[in-house]
Amino acid sequence: MKNIAVMVGSQSPTSVNRKLARTLEKLAQGKLRFHYLDIASLPHYDNDLWSNPPQSVTTLKHTVEAADGVLIAMPEYNRSFPGVIKNALDWASRPFGQSSWMDKPAALIGATPGTTGTAAGQGHLRSVLPVYGFVVMGQPEVYFNMRPGLITDELEITDETTAAFLNGWVDRFSAWVERHGTVAETAIAAE
Ligand SMILES: Cc1cc2nc3c(=O)[nH]c(=O)nc-3n(C[C@H](O)[C@H](O)[C@H](O)COP(=O)(O)O)c2cc1C
Repeated sequence: MKNIAVMVGSQSPTSVNRKLARTLEKLAQGKLRFHYLDIASLPHYDNDLWSNPPQSVTTLKHTVEAADGVLIAMPEYNRSFPGVIKNALDWASRPFGQSSWMDKPAALIGATPGTTGTAAGQGHLRSVLPVYGFVVMGQPEVYFNMRPGLITDELEITDETTAAFLNGWVDRFSAWVERHGTVAETAIAAE
């Protein structure tokens, strides 16, 4: 079983991105174990805080370092990606030379209630992810239109084509993590 650090770029209790991530988590049972990162409690990035780093920062770095892969589920904000994601990416990229993201296999997904599916926002994020050291999965891209009724509150997918696509994504991401992961055995579950 591979451990995946999951970052959801929305704090909304009704977030369609969290719902999509939880749906993938359900489909991936037995293959991937998801650990949701608490990025909302991080302070704004402040280099001077490293002398006594906040618990939220050390927990973030520890969880990421113990993970075999990273999943980012993001809404699109003004044709880009949310600031909370950038903030978390920057925190765990430091101290200099100690990026927790280095060499982590990663994938990016996004959902909107409408049809744009976060394509523009994901493009922005994709352009900086290699800077952090991620090994980013290119395909399949996920620009998800979370139309009403497509996924129930119990995370059942009501459309066969969508279910096949998301199951295929899980298989591809599992294989990506298997192929590029560098962490052998981790202790997240034991903590
Ligand atoms: C500040 C802000 C900017 C937004 N900009 C976009 C945008 O550029 N494109 C888009 O499709 N939706 C945009 N939206 C709408 C969000 O994509 C939509 O609220 C979506 O449901 C957010 O995902 P969530 O349910 O996971 O929070 C924006 C929303 C906010 C709050």
